[in-house]
Amino acid sequence: PSANIGVVGLAVMGSNLARNLASREGNTVAIFNRSYEKTETLLTEHPEAEFVPAKTYEEFAASLQKPRTAIIMVQAGRGTDAVIDALTEVFEPGDIIVDGGNALFTDTIRREKAVRETGINFVGAGISGGEEGALLGPSIMPGGSAEAWETLGPILKSIAAVVDGEPCVTHVGTDGAGHFVKMIHNGIEYADMQLIGEAYDLIRRGTGKSPAEIADIFTEWNKGELESYLIEITAEVLRQVDEKTGKPLVDVILDQAGSKGTGVWTVQTALDLGIPVSGIAEAVFARSVSSKPAQRAAASALPGPTASPVENVDAFIEGVRQALYASKVIAYSQGFDAIVAGAEQYNWDIKKGDIAKIWRGGCIIRARFLNRITDAYAENPGLVSLVTAPFFTDVVTQAQDSWRNVVADAAHAGIPAPVFASSLSYYDSLRADRLPAALTQGQRDFFGAHTYKRVDMEGTFHTLWSGDRTEIESVDSH
Ligand code: 6PG
Repeated sequence: PSANIGVVGLAVMGSNLARNLASREGNTVAIFNRSYEKTETLLTEHPEAEFVPAKTYEEFAASLQKPRTAIIMVQAGRGTDAVIDALTEVFEPGDIIVDGGNALFTDTIRREKAVRETGINFVGAGISGGEEGALLGPSIMPGGSAEAWETLGPILKSIAAVVDGEPCVTHVGTDGAGHFVKMIHNGIEYADMQLIGEAYDLIRRGTGKSPAEIADIFTEWNKGELESYLIEITAEVLRQVDEKTGKPLVDVILDQAGSKGTGVWTVQTALDLGIPVSGIAEAVFARSVSSKPAQRAAASALPGPTASPVENVDAFIEGVRQALYASKVIAYSQGFDAIVAGAEQYNWDIKKGDIAKIWRGGCIIRARFLNRITDAYAENPGLVSLVTAPFFTDVVTQAQDSWRNVVADAAHAGIPAPVFASSLSYYDSLRADRLPAALTQGQRDFFGAHTYKRVDMEGTFHTLWSGDRTEIESVDSH
C-alpha cells in the first residue's frame, strides 16, 4: 500500500481536500467515490496530484498504509452512515475513519460509540473555509480519541491554514467535541453575517449611499479592528454589478436567506444547555423572517416610519461601525458560553483559547480580533464571560453610546436591527443590578405555587396567594 491518507467522496469539498492533501510533502492520497466517474474526472483534471484511485472499498482499503486513515467528505446525514458502514467492513482495529462533513455533534457521539466497538477509531472533524479553504488551507476542528489524533494530527496540520507559523487545527476533545465547536463556529458565522447585513441596511437606508459606496466603507473598516474575511467579502459582494441589468448585484438577488441547518442546531443546542445565544438566535430568525414571502407581502402595508436621511453621515457610519463591533463581541461571548456549557455537559476538555486560535485562519469567521479572545483566556482561564475581559470591556465601553444611538435610530427609522438590538439588551441584562426575573418568580408562585428564594435568607418560600397571603417556607421546590 502506498497511500498514507484517503478521501471518500469527491464532490467539490472532497476533491479540493484531496488535492490539498496531495500537494503537501509526504502525502500520497487514496481516493474513492461511489461513482467512479468523479474519480476519473479528478484524475484527468489534476494529473499533477499523486492520487491512488480505487474502484471499490476493498481496493481503497488495500491502498492505505496502516493504521489506515480516511476522511469522509459526503453530504452530512444518511450518506455518512452508509460510508461509515462500508469502511468499517474493510478497515481493521486501530484504523481511523474521519467524518469531515457538517455532522450534528450528537450524531458524531453516536457514531463514535458504534465504531469504537469495532476497535476502529472514529473522528468527527469540523472543517471550515468553504471550497477555497478545503483546497488551500481550512481551519480544522477534530474530535475523537487521543490515539487517533497521534496519527491524524500531523496529516491535518499539513493541510490546515497557517497563522503566525501555527496550523489552524487542534485536538478539540473526545467524540463529538469537534463537530460541536464547528457548529458554534457556524452559529457565530450567522450572527456575524447578520450584523454586517444590518450595518449595510442601516447605512444604505440612513444615508442613501449606493452599494458600491458602502463597499468602500467596508473596505475601510477592514483596515481596522473589524478586519475579517466576512467584512472583506461583503465589500466584494456589494461592489458586484449584475451582468444582465447593470444594477448592483445585491439589488437583484432575492432577499430570502437560505440555510442548511447548522445555525438552527446551535440555537437548539444552546436552548437545551440553557445558554442565551440571543445574537445567534436572532440571526437565525432573521433568515426565517426573510423567507416568509406570503407574510411579508401581507404585512407590507402595515404602518411605520420611512427612514429619512441622517444629518451627520460620517458620525452615523462611525456609530454603526462601533455598534457592529460591540454586538460582535456579544455574539462571540455568547458562542463561547455555549462552548463552555457544552464541554461541561459532554465532558470535553476544550481549551477556549486554542479554539479562538484555530479560528484565526482558514475559516469563515476568521478575524483579527480572535487573537484577543486567545489572550483573554490566557490571562484568565476561568473567565466567566468574554465580555468581562478587560480588552472587551474597553471595546464595549467605548462603543456603547454609539451602540445605544444606533439601536434607537433603527427603531425610530423603522429599520430592523435584531442582532444589534438583542445584543444590547443582553448586555444590559447581564450588567443589571436587578432583573424583573423577581417578578416572574412572583407570578409563577402566584399561579402555580412554584416557590421562590429570597435575597435575605436561605430556604424556599411560597406565599399563600389564594389564602391570607402570608409566606410559608416550602420544602419541595418545583
Ligand atoms: C464553513 C461554512 C460552511 C457552510 C455552511 C453554510 O465554515 O466553511 O460554515 O460550513 O458554508 O454550511 O451554512 P448555511 O447554508 O446554513 O448558511
